[in-house]
Amino acid sequence: MLRRGRLVAFPTETVYGLGADALDAQAVARIYAVKRRPPTSPLIVHVASVEMAQALVEVWPEVAGQLAQKFWPGPLTLVLQKRLPRQDASPAEATIPDIVTAGLPSVGIRIPAHPLALALIRAAGVPLAAPSANRFTELSPTTADHVRQSLGSEVDLILDGGPCVVGIESTVLSLLEPQPTLLRPGGISQQQLEAVIGPVALASQPVEGRPHPAPGMHARHYSPRTVLYLVEDGKVPHVGRGIYLQYGAAPRSSTVAVHQMPQSAPDYAMTLYDVLHRADASNYDWIAVDLPPAAPDWEAIRDRLRRAAAN
Ligand code: TXA
Ligand code: MG
Repeated sequence: MLRRGRLVAFPTETVYGLGADALDAQAVARIYAVKRRPPTSPLIVHVASVEMAQALVEVWPEVAGQLAQKFWPGPLTLVLQKRLPRQDASPAEATIPDIVTAGLPSVGIRIPAHPLALALIRAAGVPLAAPSANRFTELSPTTADHVRQSLGSEVDLILDGGPCVVGIESTVLSLLEPQPTLLRPGGISQQQLEAVIGPVALASQPVEGRPHPAPGMHARHYSPRTVLYLVEDGKVPHVGRGIYLQYGAAPRSSTVAVHQMPQSAPDYAMTLYDVLHRADASNYDWIAVDLPPAAPDWEAIRDRLRRAAAN
């Protein structure tokens, strides 16, 4: 189906992706249409080997090799210089079409750590462009059911590989400049990266009304439909019917529904989107999230919660 230009949703260790042949511009155009995603937001290209990644880029820096060896397959996306079209190119040296990268001269690439994803890429024999399989700005899917609920019949096929074990999206790291720059915190922490390659810079946050320093840094993202508040010390709203996602402090209200969240960051990440999908389906007036600690392990989770709360 992928080779015929169709869309196949598939599981990865982070979230489900909405996949198309990354070399087929028309198929990729359908990803943007189905997601209602603006054309300015580039897609991640999924490959099954380092060789497949190298074939898509102009330069494969030494740090890319070190990171790939340590973290691939896994939740790390590397942004590299995209291979330019050449007349004498061999069939393996493909050029990723502009639509995949939103016209940028760079491309985000990763090897996902899910046996079904790897088998799919190998069977298709092409790199797969795949954003998370949800509508733009909405919650990412961590089960096949989430995909079905969000995209329904607009996807040609959904491969069910069970719930995603990481549960939040990959870390996006740019290797375009001499100093590696973190564009999106995710499944691999800044500390884990720095242990392998030394200091990593943080992308400056977008300023209202100015062009974004990197694409995809929209404040509102990963959001449930229900209004979401970040709260501390159990201070929940006093109006309407809500649910409190407790980490530490008990809610200061006896009428609110309470869902106890896991205490470790990996367990919390694995269940977060499913809990939010369920809260959405229960038609609460609001969701109050007891903010987990401001510690390095929690940075990706806190980033997603901040974005989920933005309006
Ligand atoms: O875990 C994940 O990364 C999942 C699974 C399916 O692999 N995919 C995912 O894709 O989260 P998406 O499209 O929802 O997010 C892609 C992120 C965006 O923040 C986008 O801006 C960034 O990667 N990105 C992709 N290509 C880029 C590039 N050339 N330069 C800068 N950022 C890029
Ligand atoms: Mg997404």
